Amino acid sequence: MNFYKRVLGHSAILIAALLIGTASSAQETTADSTAVVQETAVTVGSSSGLPTDATIIGEGKSLFNNICSQCHEVANKKVGPALANVWERREIPWLLNFIKYPQKVIDSGDEYAANLYAEYKSAGYMPNHDFLSDDEILSILAYVQEETLNPAVAVVASGTSVSGEAGTSGGANSTLLLAIVGGLVVLLLVLVVTLFLLASVLTKYLGKDEKLTEEDKAFINQKFSIGAVIKSPMFLGIITFIFLAVAAKATVDGLFSIGVQQGYAPEQPITFSHKLHAGYYEIDCKYCHTGVEKSKSANIPSANICMNCHNSIRQESPEIQKIYAAIENNEPIQWVRVHNLPDLAYFNHAQHVKVGGLECENCHGEIKEMEVVQQHSLLTMGWCIDCHRQTEVNTKDNGYYTRLVELHSETSKEPMKVEDIGGLECAKCHY
Ligand code: HEC
Ligand code: HEC
Ligand code: HEC
Ligand code: HEC
Ligand code: HEC
Ligand code: HEC
Repeated sequence: MNFYKRVLGHSAILIAALLIGTASSAQETTADSTAVVQETAVTVGSSSGLPTDATIIGEGKSLFNNICSQCHEVANKKVGPALANVWERREIPWLLNFIKYPQKVIDSGDEYAANLYAEYKSAGYMPNHDFLSDDEILSILAYVQEETLNPAVAVVASGTSVSGEAGTSGGANSTLLLAIVGGLVVLLLVLVVTLFLLASVLTKYLGKDEKLTEEDKAFINQKFSIGAVIKSPMFLGIITFIFLAVAAKATVDGLFSIGVQQGYAPEQPITFSHKLHAGYYEIDCKYCHTGVEKSKSANIPSANICMNCHNSIRQESPEIQKIYAAIENNEPIQWVRVHNLPDLAYFNHAQHVKVGGLECENCHGEIKEMEVVQQHSLLTMGWCIDCHRQTEVNTKDNGYYTRLVELHSETSKEPMKVEDIGGLECAKCHY
């Protein structure tokens, strides 16, 4: 009667495996259904005409935190008024104009603005924000609206959009996933019922069989017990296999991302904005990063460089006060380093910027668009090597290369790439 034992054993294992499968997909569904909840919550209050898209609200939040939060909160007064419901106090076009040019609006005789200014006289004029586009201001207002109407959800919603696009695409997939899981559960139920019917018919039928040994009779009459299934070697085997597979995947993913910090954008001690300084005011990168053309390191500017302008510009700003404090206490500003190669690698800015003629954007991305600097490139060895394989050496007006180019053209018709001048030699990049 070994056959019968096997049938029972296999069906128990099948049920166990199906249960595990459903449990894990059910977990995914709960995660996805929260995404759905967020999206529906975000649509509330669209009558104001402000955007309600979660991604835009996320952008608005980050702009608000970087530019407005030193003076404004949504729910409470700070340096300036609480912004809750501001889109109801004023029309959107008025707000766009006011946020860009507050002083102009106040001095133009606008009664509302003048009263506001009188109330907040000690704070002075709110600074101009003409470096922001209309869309950016709308995104800030959208965030303010969301935070007014639904503070808790706004935090979650912008959290997902900061951590990647995954949050926004989740909604569409979740219906499909729900259908699949639903189907699986129905299938599982049908299977369980069929198996139990089959088992009871078989038991009845076999029970009448006279030729059965005592051992087989005992086996047939035993009650189905979860405990026995869990202790069965097959079940343990399956569990171990699933566990090992998950662990192996996690390890492999982990190994591939060791030390890779693409997208890293730490919060800085002062809300210094490249978008404002390098983008809107077009201050040259080299004005602050004095090393890029002369040395290995680009340098982070000292507080003295900031003081060239900020001994007179925006003295009253709490963020600028931090620069004064640093100078008074004779302590450097504790900027958090964004890019960081391991010590075993050697990278030289002057070689790439001055000799190679590369733009900062090639490696650092659109810094001029960034409120907060983030790591744009992978900064792995593969990234360096790829570029050295593809990039032609900048030989223009460089006497040093004339002889090398001659030598190169004798052996090859291809233009001279960085790899041809030793850009793939280990010792060039490793001490
Ligand atoms: C340095 C402080 C400061 C910063 C930064 C600042 N504000 Fe203001 N804001 C004020 C003050 C002060 C007022 C009151 C009017 C005045 O005195 O100029 C105000 C008024 C306002 C008002 C009108 C409020 C009302 O009740 O009608 C809005 C809207 C506003 N700010 C939006 C913003 C936005 C959006 C940002 C960021 C892009 C921002 N502010 C950044 C200080 C600031
Ligand atoms: C007014 C001064 C100033 C100007 C102009 C400026 N920067 Fe910066 N930069 C800073 C300061 C201060 C930091 C450190 C704080 C931070 O990371 O935001 C920094 C940080 C950086 C970092 C990250 C450094 C790290 O920690 O790894 C990069 C990359 C960078 N700047 C590139 C640029 C480029 C490219 C330009 C020109 C388009 C530029 N900067 C213009 C002041 C400036
Ligand atoms: C070449 C001139 C210049 C230099 C150098 C400069 N800034 Fe600025 N900064 C400005 C201008 C202009 C503004 C905009 C003022 C306004 O909005 O009214 C500004 C605004 C700011 C603000 C926003 C202040 C606020 O409350 O609105 C911060 C923070 C700031 N700078 C930090 C720094 C730091 C830190 C450094 C040194 C690494 C620095 N700046 C160097 C010109 C400069
Ligand atoms: C070929 C790629 C490349 C180019 C071009 C480049 N950088 Fe960098 N930059 C890097 C790498 C890689 C690091 C990290 C260096 C390290 O950790 O030793 C870095 C780091 C920095 C830092 C942090 C401080 C430091 O020196 O480590 C600043 C600031 C910076 N770069 C600014 C600039 C500016 C400004 C330009 C344009 C004038 C520029 N970079 C051009 C690759 C580049
Ligand atoms: C965007 C393209 C680019 C990237 C990315 C890049 N490089 Fe380069 N690299 C160049 C160019 C172009 C030169 C040639 C400069 C010259 O003419 O000497 C060069 C030259 C060098 C040299 C000198 C080679 C020699 O034989 O003289 C070293 C060392 C070097 N790079 C290291 C690195 C390291 C380390 C990284 C990664 C952290 C890196 N590079 C990333 C473009 C790049
Ligand atoms: C163009 C520059 C460049 C060249 C050429 C280069 N490397 Fe690297 N290498 C790097 C950088 C940058 C890192 C750090 C990468 C990181 O942190 O992910 C690195 C990391 C490593 C590591 C540490 C393991 C790791 O992935 O972090 C080893 C080992 C290594 N390189 C060996 C070599 C050998 C062997 C050669 C010659 C065949 C070589 N490298 C040539 C730039 C280079």
